[in-house]
Amino acid sequence: RPLFILNGPNLNLLGTREPEIYGSATLSDIEAACAEHASMLGLTIDFRQTNHEGVLIDHVQDAGRAASALIINPAGYGHTSVALHDALKAIAIPAIEIHLSQPAAREAFRHHSYVSSAVSGTISGFGARSYILGIEAAHALIAASGP
Ligand code: DQA
Repeated sequence: RPLFILNGPNLNLLGTREPEIYGSATLSDIEAACAEHASMLGLTIDFRQTNHEGVLIDHVQDAGRAASALIINPAGYGHTSVALHDALKAIAIPAIEIHLSQPAAREAFRHHSYVSSAVSGTISGFGARSYILGIEAAHALIAASGP
């Protein structure tokens, strides 16, 4: 079963979107680094991005059916979406929230996450490395969750 890595709105713009905050790597660069790191750990990935809340929820439900674990950068929807929280509560696989930036050190409206209370843990503030650290965390949780 693949490790699903889901990306929310505006992350398709990485590379040119506020690079002083989010770095210069594109989402394709990050996907390639994730695939390489995952394969080192014996994992395959299903890497997706959408700008649409309902589609992101469909992807979470897909993960619940088909993934070994889920990593999600919910982007702006983490701060707004009860429906995303509910979708994450509805799946049984390990789930990890990640952010490139450190939302707690930014504007007050980024301090609350509807996702955090529905996942095992959160990794934020390490730029593109948050994805790699997320894969490490997912690998540990998959190993801990059975044969
Ligand atoms: C983000 C942080 C969010 O606050 C923001 O809305 C994003 C990106 C991050 O990866 O740092 O779109 O999730």
